[in-house]
Amino acid sequence: MMVAFCGLLLMTNMSASIANPLNDPETIERRVTELLGQMTLAEKIGQMSQHNASEGYAPDYLADGLRAGRVGSVINVVDVDAVNELQRIAVEESRLGIPLMVGRDVIHGFETIMPIPLGQAATWNRELVKEGARVAALEAVTAGINWTFAPMIDISRDARWGRIAESLGESVFLTNELAVAMVAGFQGDDLAKPGSIAACAKHFAGYGAVESGRDYATTNIPEIKLRNVHLRPFKAAVDAGVATLMTSFSDVNGVPATGNEFLLRQVLRDEWNFDGLVVSDWDSIRQLQVHGLTENDKESAFEAATAGVDMEMHGDAYSNHLAELVEEGRISISSIDTAVANILRAKFRLGLFENPFTNPEKLPSIANGRALETAQQAALQSVVMLKNDHGTLPLSAEQLSSVAVIGPLADAPYQQLGTWIFDGDVELSITPMHAIHSLVGRDVDVRYVRAMENSRSRVSEAFDEAVEIAGDSDATILFLGEESILSGEAHSRADINLPGDQAELVRRIRETGKPVIAVILAGRPLTLTNIVDQVDAMLFAWHPGTMGGPAIADLLFGIESPSGKLPATFPRMVGQIPIYYSQKNTGKPPSPDKIAHIDEIDTRAPQTSLGMTAFHLDAGYTPLFAFGHGLSYTTFDYEHIRPSAYEIGPGDTVTISAELTNSGDVAADEVVQLYARDLVATVTRPVRELKGFKRVRLEPGQTVTVAFDLHTNDLAFYGRDMRLRTEPGEFHVWIGGSSETELRTEFRIVDND
Ligand code: NOJ
Repeated sequence: MMVAFCGLLLMTNMSASIANPLNDPETIERRVTELLGQMTLAEKIGQMSQHNASEGYAPDYLADGLRAGRVGSVINVVDVDAVNELQRIAVEESRLGIPLMVGRDVIHGFETIMPIPLGQAATWNRELVKEGARVAALEAVTAGINWTFAPMIDISRDARWGRIAESLGESVFLTNELAVAMVAGFQGDDLAKPGSIAACAKHFAGYGAVESGRDYATTNIPEIKLRNVHLRPFKAAVDAGVATLMTSFSDVNGVPATGNEFLLRQVLRDEWNFDGLVVSDWDSIRQLQVHGLTENDKESAFEAATAGVDMEMHGDAYSNHLAELVEEGRISISSIDTAVANILRAKFRLGLFENPFTNPEKLPSIANGRALETAQQAALQSVVMLKNDHGTLPLSAEQLSSVAVIGPLADAPYQQLGTWIFDGDVELSITPMHAIHSLVGRDVDVRYVRAMENSRSRVSEAFDEAVEIAGDSDATILFLGEESILSGEAHSRADINLPGDQAELVRRIRETGKPVIAVILAGRPLTLTNIVDQVDAMLFAWHPGTMGGPAIADLLFGIESPSGKLPATFPRMVGQIPIYYSQKNTGKPPSPDKIAHIDEIDTRAPQTSLGMTAFHLDAGYTPLFAFGHGLSYTTFDYEHIRPSAYEIGPGDTVTISAELTNSGDVAADEVVQLYARDLVATVTRPVRELKGFKRVRLEPGQTVTVAFDLHTNDLAFYGRDMRLRTEPGEFHVWIGGSSETELRTEFRIVDND
């Protein structure tokens, strides 16, 4: 058998200089079949098992497992020598020499950290997001990693959920587009090329809809909503060639995703023809029992394998029980073969049989500064200016003699990196406080007071000093928000106000009467209602990553104009959740004249009805900041929206265009957004859906025509029969700088029959 492996290797070396013929699908299928034919059942089950290798350097138990062919993949080893040693044992000392997939959570950067994914989504910049993933891949491969567990593309409409930080927000279209960009960045144009790593679209599916935003909780999602919302980004990722998918931890409509045959077989394999690898989440096969779906690990292995989970991440349900299940005839050998073929296919696609080892010196090097430049650009474009009264921003270093920099997140190099930064190099982090010093420190007296030990602090002893310094300075920049530990996996919150005494700090600083600018660093949308009126300007910077400081400083001092746009709606109150721009109209839609406020109810005059529309008595129906919102230092005017045709037929494309003018004084980027509404359909459709976006740069006074092509397929949705269709009828379309744009036109799809 060793000979067979060597033969493969020889063949590879001979053909290495030719344009990678090994990568053509037929060759890969042939090699998969040949290899499968040589494998014992134990070796097959070995491929289906991923082991945590975070402890020690090729520990004995793992080395033995590799020699015996009991391990198909390892997770959490990042020492290149250790990875090479594990690969060496797998390739040289196991019977068939099958190389390992080496997995790691490279979520938003490896050493150099980009903004959290939600922040990257706020850039609305496909190329930049792709480049961020590319940089992450190029850094990760130097450690021997060939598989990342990203992108996380769970549609998330609940800011309480800590993992909204890892998501690309609430919109199907924005998530689809950026998911595809991330997959392209990680995987490159050929998975087998040095510098590419396999991406993993996760968590399949519906995880973002956990009840009350509590991580791991139940999800109940009608099939039509699953198909129209939650599954769509996964389909986009599959179509874009994502190599792997990960199942969700959660229960979906009564069947946990890891044992969900409907999702994993019917949708993913039968309808979408996905031939990549499906991995469970960490220990999620064993957890089928904890969910109450199975009695024991053996039954959990049965359910997961039957549903179509190819590989078990960190667990031993498969390794302990699959063989027995096959012997009992409950699991067929052909279904095991299918799973193993999916795994081997991924390994062949990655070129691991040809190049199992990592020699960092032979990898494409990241050009000097490329990683940091990408991180800075991404941070710059991710920051959303939520408010800017009276042109408070940008600050002028010429006009200020002093500025107070106050708050627990002004100089917190680790916290600004955000969640999931296992390998992030905190030493590279440049904080806003340092960046402001470097940018204007020679001209402006920068006075820093931390004021609070951390964002949750209830100790206000240092507030007096902060107030004194703020009162004595020309302006105050408050760095508030939440530390990285407050978002991410298992870090959900029920109250999404600024934690601790931060609101009180804002109130005290406000009393100085000096301009107050708040810069919020956070892993989720926060309810900012209690502080928004207390500040003159507000930047929302998410967790901006390694280069967050310089990006924020450049924006504060007008080196560049803010251009980020919200990828998720900001509620006024937590009780409005889920609040998102693409809601349905309802039969009783609210409007400003059809709502009442709880404080205005006159209980002396008996009333039985108040507006009778879909609103909250205390919060109304609008968000604090809408999806797509984001201000600039310039002003953009939109006009003359028009369709290229007022009637189109099925299969046609209509072009929607509008004129955009930079009517202000500075050059700036604008993210132009296209929304559409299907007015009447056989199932109710959202009041607006994002259908296109473009980031454009305009000089002062410049006018451009921005055009979007809309094919009738782009307006398709799943109907009552769960089939995708576009229905004829009238469509409204809007172009503008946020989901609240009123610049509208319309067209019809006419049925030719
Ligand atoms: C659990 C998380 O849900 C998943 O996203 C992650 O990739 C794995 N752990 C591995 O760390």
